[in-house]
Amino acid sequence: MLSQKNNRLYLENVSLEKLAGEYGTPLFVYSKNTILGNFNSFLKPFAPGKELICYALKANSNYSILKTLSGAGAGVDITSGGELYRAMRAGFKPSKTVYAGIGKTYEEIEYALKNNILMFNVESLEEIEAVNKAAGRLGRKAPVAFRVNPHIDPHTHHYITTGTAGVKFGIPFAEALDAYKTASKLKNIEIVGIHSHIGSQITSTKPFKMAAQRISGIVKKLAGAGIHLKYVDLGGGLGITYSNEKPPTPYELKKSVVPIFKGLDVSFIFEPGRSIIGNAGVLLAGVIYRKKAGGKNFLVVDTGMNDLLRPTLYEAFHDIVPAAGASRPRVKLDVVGPICETGDFLGKNRMIPWLNQGECLAVKCAGAYGYAMSSQYNSRARAAEVMVDGNKYSLIRRRETYKDLVALEK
Ligand code: LLP
Repeated sequence: MLSQKNNRLYLENVSLEKLAGEYGTPLFVYSKNTILGNFNSFLKPFAPGKELICYALKANSNYSILKTLSGAGAGVDITSGGELYRAMRAGFKPSKTVYAGIGKTYEEIEYALKNNILMFNVESLEEIEAVNKAAGRLGRKAPVAFRVNPHIDPHTHHYITTGTAGVKFGIPFAEALDAYKTASKLKNIEIVGIHSHIGSQITSTKPFKMAAQRISGIVKKLAGAGIHLKYVDLGGGLGITYSNEKPPTPYELKKSVVPIFKGLDVSFIFEPGRSIIGNAGVLLAGVIYRKKAGGKNFLVVDTGMNDLLRPTLYEAFHDIVPAAGASRPRVKLDVVGPICETGDFLGKNRMIPWLNQGECLAVKCAGAYGYAMSSQYNSRARAAEVMVDGNKYSLIRRRETYKDLVALEK
């Protein structure tokens, strides 16, 4: 919902330059109606009554964003006790909560059991022992799915590839049947489903389809062995358009995978993160200095790898545009941050106007894995966050202060 009006960039009906002036930079700004629109496009049913959309909270865990999604009826995919805490506080229903993660501690398992979550996506045999033990201690049965690694390459960055052989995630698909048989003998375990999440920022249906084929094969074999699953959780991973990618729509994704399970009486779970919040957020940066060095042009801005790690960590592309005056002549330049590392950049070799000091740039598609992965590196207080709704806006997390930097130290 970004648009240009009078040579100014707007998110919904609010000028980003105005927000930068009011709240300062760096500033994350989110569009409430983009979030809801993205979520609603996931709701368009392919298998009516048999689909649950669980927002992957790790993508952005701000309370107001979570409230927006829980209020719209979303379920939630969590990955730690801290995420469970945030999810429950923001009103997500335990009956719509799924819990993944390869390193759930005993305390985290107990915490989730006490909250009556829908299911644990278990990633190892030692983990299922721990879940069984915790459930026994609480006099309960734990609802579990195994996360199965289907050994399918999702063709994305290798750091966010999770479904190939040799990565730490899931039970290798050739060992899945045995894992289920072992689990079926555990007293305090109720086997309810199967889970697979092959990676993130996936831009074609093909790997999803291939993974679904492997998973459906296992579901069928299990049914043959008398183990009937209720839930097929196909994870998240749907990509978004950062530059010229053309990812499938949520409906196209469902259409490509759901029919593979024909004849099986299962409900589907999807765990989108990026495709709900990614394009709903921008990061506003103020130009501190302009600099020419070694034949290159640099805009030195007040945000960098501490606020948006993706360019540094994955060499990820985020489009960068001026918040006002985009029609000026452009020059080739690098947008770099203030952090003391050469890897601290937001964009390289971009065609952007040679802005003046104090002017503002918007880094697009910064809603997912932006604030969530931010840090105080170089003792930089974390940015503020604002949510826009039509022509209204409000601060949803205040900027950190120097005092916040040291608040927990003894
Ligand atoms: N479900 C599970 C089990 C996951 O591990 C993830 C993401 C998701 C769902 C949501 O995936 P999404 O729909 O957002 O692709 N920091 C990286 C992305 C890491 C994704 C981790 N797992 C990035 O900035 O690209």
